[in-house]
Amino acid sequence: MIATLHHFAENTAEAQRLADALGIACCAISVRHFPDGESLVRVGQSEQTALLYRSLDAPNAKLVETLLAASALRDGGARKVVLVAPYLAYMRQDIAFVPGEAVSQRVIGALIAEAFDGLVTVDPHLHRTPTLEAVVPGIVAVNVAAAATIARALAATVTPDTVLVGPDAESRPWVEAVAAPLGLEVVIGTKLRHGDRKVEIALVDADRLAGRPAILIDDLISSGGTLKTCAALLRGAGVTTIGAVATHCLASRADLAALAESGIAPVLATDTVPGPAASIAMAPALAEAIRSHGLA
Ligand code: R5P
Repeated sequence: MIATLHHFAENTAEAQRLADALGIACCAISVRHFPDGESLVRVGQSEQTALLYRSLDAPNAKLVETLLAASALRDGGARKVVLVAPYLAYMRQDIAFVPGEAVSQRVIGALIAEAFDGLVTVDPHLHRTPTLEAVVPGIVAVNVAAAATIARALAATVTPDTVLVGPDAESRPWVEAVAAPLGLEVVIGTKLRHGDRKVEIALVDADRLAGRPAILIDDLISSGGTLKTCAALLRGAGVTTIGAVATHCLASRADLAALAESGIAPVLATDTVPGPAASIAMAPALAEAIRSHGLA
């Protein structure tokens, strides 16, 4: 199959790594902004299959440009257009928590399903939705788990007494999937969210942590509030060091500095979202999933 990977400027490095892993050409998409803020998107030549790489952090403008690029790729002759969005936005709002709220996951999923033939993403935040297929009905949906890649990245530095700590029940599957290949112990907290930046966490098995290194594992670092609250509990429990690893890190530089001040070092993440924490490359796992689903 002849395929090309098309990407936007902010994802050049990660897209190139993926194109190299797949052994296909990589082609930059150009965007010009009009004075009123509209985007003019221009894609390069389309092969039969076009993979469109864009991570959807800070998603509002990116989503519109991504839909425009998909349309331009079809106009250019692509018969199959597949979105590779390592971070998939708008997945957290999967129900109307308060009457009148939009169910963002359903709306964005429908837009993607309409514009693309396939979606490849990493650890989407699907807490109440059973599968990624349910989010993007009728197209090929590939959910790539980051746990094995994260476990490999940690393998060289963790000691056998390290405890992997998940902040809440929802983090359990991720924490256990990272801990299993490393043979490490797991502690899972319970979390109550009081606001965008305010959470209350309890660690029931905190006595197991004294005198041992701890690494916090989560799917997402957004404001960093969850990890900061955990760090205070871990210090109280007498851990020797606190690290953190997440699949996606959306935190600003200021929030990352606050995490360092709270005693967490290092903070690591995969490269699904470009940024200072994004040191673990997902390209090999993405390439394997794309190949095994016959998408390139
Ligand atoms: C929650 O369900 C997620 O798994 C993360 O724990 C959460 O999104 C992190 O957000 P923040 O960094 O703002 O506390």
